Amino acid sequence: LLVYVPRDAAAIACGADEVAAALKVAAIAGKLDIEIIRNGSRGMAWLEPLVELATPEGRIGYGPVEPEDAGSLIAAFAGDGAHKLRVGKPEELPFLKKQTRLTFARVGIVDPRDLDDYKAHGGLKGLEKAIAIGPAAIVEEVTKSGLRGRGGAGFPTGIKWKTVADAKVNSKDHGPRKYIVCNADEGDSGTFADRMLMEGDPFCLIEGMAIAGVATGATKGYVYIRSEYPHAIAAMNTAVEKARRANVLGKGILGSAHDFDMEVRVGAGAYVCGEETSLLQSLEGKRGTVRAKPPLPAHKGLFDKPTVINNVLSLATVPIVLADGAEAYRNYGMGRSRGTMPIQLAGNVNYGGLFETAFGITLGELVDDIGGGCSTGRPVRAVQVGGPLGAYFPRALFDTPFDYEAFAARDGLIGHGGIVVFDDTVDMRRQARFAMEFCGIESCGKCTPCRIGAVRGAETIDKIIAGKDVARNIAVVEDLCQTMKFGSLCALGGFTPYPVLSAIRHFPEDFHGAPHRIAAE
Ligand code: NAI
Ligand code: SF4
Repeated sequence: LLVYVPRDAAAIACGADEVAAALKVAAIAGKLDIEIIRNGSRGMAWLEPLVELATPEGRIGYGPVEPEDAGSLIAAFAGDGAHKLRVGKPEELPFLKKQTRLTFARVGIVDPRDLDDYKAHGGLKGLEKAIAIGPAAIVEEVTKSGLRGRGGAGFPTGIKWKTVADAKVNSKDHGPRKYIVCNADEGDSGTFADRMLMEGDPFCLIEGMAIAGVATGATKGYVYIRSEYPHAIAAMNTAVEKARRANVLGKGILGSAHDFDMEVRVGAGAYVCGEETSLLQSLEGKRGTVRAKPPLPAHKGLFDKPTVINNVLSLATVPIVLADGAEAYRNYGMGRSRGTMPIQLAGNVNYGGLFETAFGITLGELVDDIGGGCSTGRPVRAVQVGGPLGAYFPRALFDTPFDYEAFAARDGLIGHGGIVVFDDTVDMRRQARFAMEFCGIESCGKCTPCRIGAVRGAETIDKIIAGKDVARNIAVVEDLCQTMKFGSLCALGGFTPYPVLSAIRHFPEDFHGAPHRIAAE
């Protein structure tokens, strides 16, 4: 019998390793022959560890499983499968059924360490097609698909690739090399999609990077992963090794004339190293501080060579764009936001996890219908979208569709797709202060509005919290936010005003006079 137990970090945190060990012991005791496959997570955090049994009707899920359940589960597997933790076929559960999984199509399904399993589920079709059609047609296909940078900024991936493809190597300006750099320094609060993808389907990212290499003429790639992701680092290292042995990486990949190899590099844990120029500095072995743009990394990036820097999700989406065609991908979505977005539901929410869907779903649907409201049972009061630098949205804005432009029109951003939910006990003054404090701690120190502004901002919000000269101090914070927004060198200082100003604007009752909330304390 084939039994699946996730090796995803979230599942491991919930006891998946202990469950796998207990199942092995119970199977021996129960004389049942089982093979355990450590898959990725399906992305339903409340069901982890979600154990699945392969049956002739498809995979049947059981969760959340604890080691003590192993004996009764093995008995169920040997019998008719009935068990109190049985949830049925995972893909029939509403949370998965409502999704459109393109980037995450294989996550939770395949064995992340098995290249043959990857191929059996459609893997490498995109790379084979890319090699067949050649660089110019790849760039055109990616451009036509409408794919935009999933790291947060939403810059068109095809245009970025074209800039690098057009840079001439061995010219006066550029040396003999171009690079593909994958930004896996996923630092936004409430986000975990990059990690889940790398742990659950690492070959997909490798394939996307190899396609980027073929498209642009880059021969070397780096995945820059934050040190806080040891399981993702291990998964990627294993997959890179296997891909190399199978000639998916290396000289003349898949028998073509294209060379492309890559390696994993581990960051040291600074949020600002997720900013692309800091990341490059760090990759070069320097301190992670921001470089001024221009020059863009596409012109002068890693070691001053033309470099594509893309987020994990952007690169991992490219194989499906190539395999199924640009048209199929761009048919999903709304406006200029084409395709799907892996949205991450976190915080005080009943059904947290990874929800991949076409752009256009509203914030209210995501939080209330999919997320099922707050896990405390209290009303949802605020959601922060797009990480610690994203705006707080009140219920009144829950009709906002998930779309780059729609969020920008309401002074927000979808960023990397993280949604953190808060109930009615949240004190928005403290959330505003947290944004300033976070910026102060994580600032690389290069420019004054961020380095000094964030500290002064936190101090001024402290005065507001203490009830000192509130109206005047709110005006000071708003003024400071304008300076940070327009005077900062990078998005860290430049976007910190989003959470601060949205808290003041949408939750004025917390700032003026006594907070409205029912004190939970
Ligand atoms: P940006 O708008 O400066 O650049 C976006 C990308 O497009 C960059 O890679 C840039 O080099 C490239 N680009 C711009 N013009 C180009 C051209 N003409 N040709 C080729 N390439 C070009 O934005 P930035 O500062 O890189 O990113 C800010 C975003 O990062 C924010 O929206 C925020 O949501 C997100 N973010 C994500 C985090 C995460 O954990 N994923 C953490 C913090 C922020
Ligand atoms: Fe550094 Fe902050 Fe300036 Fe960005 S805004 S360059 S993090 S000091």
